[in-house]
Amino acid sequence: MAENIYPIYDKMMTRADKEQLLHQRGMMIWFTGLSGSGKSTIALGVERELHQRGILCRILDGDNIRTGINAGLGFSAEDRKENIRRIAEVGKLFVDTGIVTLAAFVSPTNEYRTMARNIIGEQDFYEVYVSTPLEECERRDVKGLYARARRGEVKDFTGISAPFEAPTNPVLEIDTSKQTLEESVRQVLELIDPTPQTLPEGGE
Ligand code: ADX
Repeated sequence: MAENIYPIYDKMMTRADKEQLLHQRGMMIWFTGLSGSGKSTIALGVERELHQRGILCRILDGDNIRTGINAGLGFSAEDRKENIRRIAEVGKLFVDTGIVTLAAFVSPTNEYRTMARNIIGEQDFYEVYVSTPLEECERRDVKGLYARARRGEVKDFTGISAPFEAPTNPVLEIDTSKQTLEESVRQVLELIDPTPQTLPEGGE
């Protein structure tokens, strides 16, 4: 019962306090694209590089979300929307803790991505479209799922038997069939600046 929950927000340490502690700015880098397009691989490269620079990051992807908090969800439109809603809510907690958060999910429709953007907040949401073409994702078929989808063994598979809508206005588009991983990671890092422009009062 939300109306019986007593708010403690005004007593908690603020996001600004945490960003000052960490000397960094919280943000969400939201990767969207087909299965096998390279979202998680780029996120891992960005995390590794930022970590070396002393920036605290958190990756959210299928491995830690769909096996955990979202283990009960499948791939119907309704379940995908709930998947993305929960990821956005969890992601917001990390962003509000000052952490550079990287989400790597198919998130196949503009509706779901707009929902995520609204939950997280326009200011903190950086949408990166990993636009590697279907033919290339299918050729790679790292998990063997495209072959199974073509045989009809996996239903509602994104790009084969379920829709993927390209984002209308991503901050960055990366086609991993045309450039190296190093180039992709560098492009993301050029785009984002997780160091605070000005530290809050009392900062260095
Ligand atoms: S989303 O559509 O709800 O955003 P999410 O990114 O969590 O998808 O999960 C996609 C991953 O689940 C794919 O990379 C693939 O490994 C696996 N998967 C299993 N079944 C499907 C399916 N029907 N459609 C898409 N991906 C699937």
